[in-house]
Amino acid sequence: MTDIESVQKEGRVFEPPQGFRDQAHIKSLAEFRALYDRSIQDPEGFWAEQAKTLVWQKPWSQVLEWKPPFAKWFVGGKLNLSENCLDRHLATWRRNKAAIVWEGEPGETRTLTYLQLHREVCRFANVLKELGVATGDRVGIYMPMIPEAAVAMLACARIGATHSVVFGGFSAEALRDRMNDAQAKVIVTADGAWRRGAVVKLKAAVDAAVPAIPSVKSVVVVKRLGDDIPMSAGRDHWWHELVEAASADCPPVALDSEHPLFILYTSGTTGKPKGVVHTTGGYLLQTALSTKYVFDLKDEDTFWCTADIGWVTGHSYVVFGPLANGATTLMYEGAPNWPEPDRFWKLIAKHRVSIFYTAPTAIRAFIRWGEQWPRKHDLSSLRLLGTVGEPINPEAWMWYHAVIGASRCPIVDTWWQTETGGMMITPIPGAIATKPGSGTLPFFGVVAAVVDKDGKEVPVGDGGYLVIQKPWPSMLRTIYGDPERYAETYWKRFPGIYFTGDGARRDKDGYFWIMGRVDDVINVAGHRLGTAEVESALVSHPRVAEAAVVGRPDELKGQALVAFVTVKQGQQPSDAVRAELKEHVVKEIGAIARPDEIRFSEALPKTRSGKIMRRLLRDIASGKETLGDTTTLEDYSVLAKLREDEE
Ligand code: WT7
Repeated sequence: MTDIESVQKEGRVFEPPQGFRDQAHIKSLAEFRALYDRSIQDPEGFWAEQAKTLVWQKPWSQVLEWKPPFAKWFVGGKLNLSENCLDRHLATWRRNKAAIVWEGEPGETRTLTYLQLHREVCRFANVLKELGVATGDRVGIYMPMIPEAAVAMLACARIGATHSVVFGGFSAEALRDRMNDAQAKVIVTADGAWRRGAVVKLKAAVDAAVPAIPSVKSVVVVKRLGDDIPMSAGRDHWWHELVEAASADCPPVALDSEHPLFILYTSGTTGKPKGVVHTTGGYLLQTALSTKYVFDLKDEDTFWCTADIGWVTGHSYVVFGPLANGATTLMYEGAPNWPEPDRFWKLIAKHRVSIFYTAPTAIRAFIRWGEQWPRKHDLSSLRLLGTVGEPINPEAWMWYHAVIGASRCPIVDTWWQTETGGMMITPIPGAIATKPGSGTLPFFGVVAAVVDKDGKEVPVGDGGYLVIQKPWPSMLRTIYGDPERYAETYWKRFPGIYFTGDGARRDKDGYFWIMGRVDDVINVAGHRLGTAEVESALVSHPRVAEAAVVGRPDELKGQALVAFVTVKQGQQPSDAVRAELKEHVVKEIGAIARPDEIRFSEALPKTRSGKIMRRLLRDIASGKETLGDTTTLEDYSVLAKLREDEE
């Protein structure tokens, strides 16, 4: 018996368009395979060669030291991430190239060239030093999507302070817990931010949190809104006043390759959030390299990753990866549907964005809002699309391909995690044919496999546990302050092998299909089904916008399958539609996956990064009180509403 049964039958294949291939960094599958094979047969040789694309202040003496589960990359090497993202471009024609193009939600724009960004980073790095921040200290960043957020991250990197960004949508309590765990000395924030036409009062949350964070000595506040806010004398400082007085001369500190670059907290399902620790050399190398090859990034591109800097995607692919490559990265402060549901398309047309990277949750929202919105705008500048964060259901992929990509742009469906730091399973767009819903093949140096509960590789087509069998440069190094939890969470289930927590299968071409978190697997009459496949089947019905399936205890079958469904705008939920959807799932994947119950709801509970919280839906489906951590839930009213809607 297999561990997770796969029931999906997607069969479409999209070869890289010839025009795209011709201009790509990697132009064929053969070329990709040659590089990949080398990265696997001689990983240390491969990574040493690639590492030469970075600037090192002192060369390393050993590429990898692997004492499972603890890895060190480029042992003995010294470098500075901000030097790699900024200074090295100043010696080239890129000095006056746009590094960051920013647009605020109200519509104002700012552009920072590499030269200007470098100056701002140096000045803010000096500000941090004057506030007593030394190499090795932690700095909290609780900011809107404004250029100063990137400046603060790079300034920390410049002096070797470890930053910990807390998403600006999180509460004062969430901020307090994370900052206490990290023992931050300084918090950088703003008076507020714009979100969906309303003001988010960041500084007020900091004021509520800081009295309970004894390590914090200073708060630096960017004036984003200009509202009158209380400033606590001696503790709070205006960013612009400190920066004005600071020198722009700040040499990059030579840091050990294993110097901790950042701590980013991910919410576990139970217990306190885990502080995922990433270090400098290996992390920078894998993010820079994947940015270049996965996005086929060129100097002419305008790159837009829509993630917030509060998530790892914002670290690796809004800030560090693009800047390390000397690219132009777009930052947008606000919501995709403000003032209208076409804001993203307007931004793409206005800034002539050529590479666009977003999440399935956003794509499903665009589908729900209707294709009249993107149709209003000239999206012809786009040449490549990307997705990350969840399995993308094939119908959403097809919509993205046809409506946004005009059937012309390849789509890179990139699988990775906060813990992996950079992309792990992903198409290389000029080389690897794509299949809707598959992340295709592992990236350079990544040895991924699908195994059963004993750690043995499962046959082609069978579901199982996704594992990574060898260390990789951008892997997390530990959980901050808790190496036992690190070892326990990721390396214990399959000793010496990294367990991702995801279910997956491989097809006959070796392509990976992610089936969702294994915690979410549903056991129906002995069949263990991944959530992603059943949800895909539901979403492939023309009336459905979004679906989440969970198990509820059932005497007969072990678990009964409950589907929470949001219908598209203009559709009416009814018993007839319920019956229609159940039959549709049977037709798409078979009788074992027939939902026992369908509940319509206007919205699904999601984390702030857009992931459906199936744990909460499980409680609702089985009539339980919601237990456990709900601090990352985006909209509490959704939970109350779902309970009211019970049949
Ligand atoms: C989990 C990691 C990676 C940055 C954003 C999320 C799911 C992520 C994909 C994808 C299928 C995906 C996995 C993974 N996931 N990308 N392309 N296809 N699933 O980072 O919050 O650490 O979440 O997101 O379940 O384990 P994260």
